Amino acid sequence: MNGDDGGDGVLVRPIGCIRSPFTDPAGMPIQPAGAAGVRGLVEILPEFRDGLADLEGFSRIILIYLFHRSEGCSLRVVPFLDDREHGVFATRAPRRPNPIGLSVVRLVGVEGCRLVIEDVDVLDGTPLLDIKPYISAIDAFPDERCGWFNDFARDVRKVQADSRFAEPGP
Ligand SMILES: C[S@@+](CC[C@H](N)C(=O)[O-])C[C@H]1O[C@@H](n2cnc3c(N)ncnc32)[C@H](O)[C@@H]1O
Repeated sequence: MNGDDGGDGVLVRPIGCIRSPFTDPAGMPIQPAGAAGVRGLVEILPEFRDGLADLEGFSRIILIYLFHRSEGCSLRVVPFLDDREHGVFATRAPRRPNPIGLSVVRLVGVEGCRLVIEDVDVLDGTPLLDIKPYISAIDAFPDERCGWFNDFARDVRKVQADSRFAEPGP
């Protein structure tokens, strides 16, 4: 398999970097819904530029990236929105076995190797692993069950992060 390092792991390499106004996890938005209008940039390495062809036709894109400032891994976490513990795979918490995040952001424009984006909920300098177009006919399921999150959906715009996942876990 392409990217297999021959051992237990799988090698992936960043295709670029996400720029945002956020340098400290504490006090920043916890999801794009809480970061409406917050502008950022995606800087793509020149060798991947050709892969951006036709992306400007999409108003939202899915960024897949590394939580590079998350410390350690916890299988049970207390997410920002709740004061109860949940299994990490039932949350979007950064401290996970593979610290990978995804954000559906607004694509404002494509300028060469740079994408101008809005609704950014990631730290400045976050390594970008992949981009996919957001396609509502494929990706949107607005009426599905959302577990514990249902009780907190209204809060996602106003709750801000703290530094709990940027410190070594238990
Ligand atoms: C709850 S996560 C959700 C991220 C993404 N929308 C998701 O669902 O995967 C967002 C929080 O992760 C933290 N964070 C963002 N970028 C990070 C990074 N590069 N490394 C570590 N933590 C990060 C910040 O505290 C931010 O508020």
